[in-house]
This record gives sequence, structure tokens and C-alpha cells, in this order.
Amino acid sequence: MMTAENGTVIRFEHVFKSYGDHEILKDFGLEVKKGEFLTVIGSSGSGKTTMLKMINGLLTPTSGTIYVDGKDISKENQTLLRRNIGYVIQGIGLFPHMTVWKNIAYVPQLLNHRDKIRTHKAVDRLIEVVGLNKEMLTRYPAELSGGQRQRVGIARALAANPDILLMDEPFGAVDEITRKSLQHEISRIHNELGVTVVFITHDIKEALTLGTRVLVMNNGKTEQIDTPDAILHHPATPFVKELVQASYNC
Ligand SMILES: Nc1ncnc2c1ncn2[C@@H]1O[C@H](COP(=O)(O)OP(=O)(O)OP(=O)(O)O)[C@@H](O)[C@H]1O
Ligand SMILES: [Mg+2]
Repeated sequence: MMTAENGTVIRFEHVFKSYGDHEILKDFGLEVKKGEFLTVIGSSGSGKTTMLKMINGLLTPTSGTIYVDGKDISKENQTLLRRNIGYVIQGIGLFPHMTVWKNIAYVPQLLNHRDKIRTHKAVDRLIEVVGLNKEMLTRYPAELSGGQRQRVGIARALAANPDILLMDEPFGAVDEITRKSLQHEISRIHNELGVTVVFITHDIKEALTLGTRVLVMNNGKTEQIDTPDAILHHPATPFVKELVQASYNC
């Protein structure tokens, strides 16, 4: 078994996942090192979201083992596991009846319930980290644009100071300009905080720009996992080649 000492934070070993007769992941293996920004791309239904949700225990494998920080997560406390793993999904995820401040402060308040000043400081820092103005803190999610909501979602996911950030097509529903600015922000956050990121996208350009490595999935299997440069210039399979060519055509 790999341990955290060799820098591996996430490891899938012979993971299978089925729904009834439908096999979604087939003998899936993966190793993500500390501080990596792994982007994940592939055909629709190829198992990307399924794979991601297994990292924080929202889904469990049919067989096989997943290690986070060297520990078999099936034997870990699920609440503590999830607290150490930020999770950002498209659009939804904020508490609609809570202000932006309360949304971001939710976890810090749980963690330092006796130290209000600490929570206030944490929220002030996070709102700045994601590039939002402090005057947004008193608003409700419905009073924000889609891009602003995504930023609040990222701030909330970072609030517990997680070692791992899982993102499932987080910028899929925003316009091109907002998307560029969110991409810039998440790159900066990754560099500054040194957090390990696993980021699913449908956009090959986004995958190649943001990722320190790119995982291409098809039909529950890995087609290629490599640096953006290698994916671009040395596609390992016809599937990857076609994906990369599509990026030249748009
Ligand atoms: N609860 C479920 N019951 C049965 N089948 C499911 C369930 N959840 C997902 N699936 C199936 O598993 C497959 C993989 O789904 P998954 O959401 O992981 O795909 P994906 O790669 O994230 O696709 P997309 O790019 O469209 O988001 C799909 O065929 C889907 O229909
Ligand atoms: Mg998905």
C-alpha cells in the first residue's frame, strides 16, 4: 500500500463500481500526488463524477480500495474525511436561506465555535482569496450572479482548510469571461495554498490549461494520464487524439 510519505494523497486500487448489471468503473487505478492539479475529461457517462464522489465517500466501490493520505477510507470516519476534502459542484450547493457570510462561516463556526474573531478573520480572508468584494457578505445566494455564486462555493469549500479540493464541472454554467476569471482564481488558489485539486471538465482547453496532469477517461477506464504537453503532442489512443483535435477546431 502507498502511504502519504511518498507524496501520494489519493490512490485507487483495482476499483470496480456497478449499478446492477451496468459496470461503470472497471479495474480503475489512480494515483494523485500532493499538490497536483489533476484535470479529468472524457465522454459523458464515462464515470468521472462516480470516480470523484468515491474520493470523499459519497459513493462506495463495489470492490477495490481507495486510500486518502495512505488510509483506506472505508475504515475512516466519514465526517472527518469529508471535512478534509472540499467539494465544489456546478450551480447548486449553497444554502439559499443563509447569507454569503453564513454560507462561508458554516464550517469555521463548527470548528472554532468559541472563537468568533477567528471565524470572522477566516471569512474575511476567504472572500478575498476568491476575489469577491466584502459587501457581498450580507447578500443571499439568489442575489448573486452565477459566477459570484461559484466563487462563494469555492470559498465555502476552502473554509475548512482542506488538503484536497474536488471540483465537478464547477465553471460549466458561466459565460466565457467569468470562466476565464474563475480559472485564473483557482490557479492562483492552487499555487498559494498548495492544495491538491481534482477537477472535472468537459472543456479540453480548460483541462490542458489548468492541469499539471490530465486524466482522460472513456467507458470507465483510463485512456491516458499525462502532462498537458504529452496529451497534446503524444496522444496515447485514437480517443485522446480525437479529443485533442477537437480543441484545435474550436
Ligand atoms: N445512481 C445511479 N444508478 C444507476 N446508474 C447510475 C447512477 N449514477 C450514475 N449512473 C450511471 O453511471 C454512468 C456514469 O455516470 P457519471 O455521472 O459518473 O458520468 P460522468 O462521466 O460524470 O458523465 P457526465 O460527463 O455526463 O457528467 C452513467 O452511465 C450513469 O447513467
Ligand atoms: Mg459528471
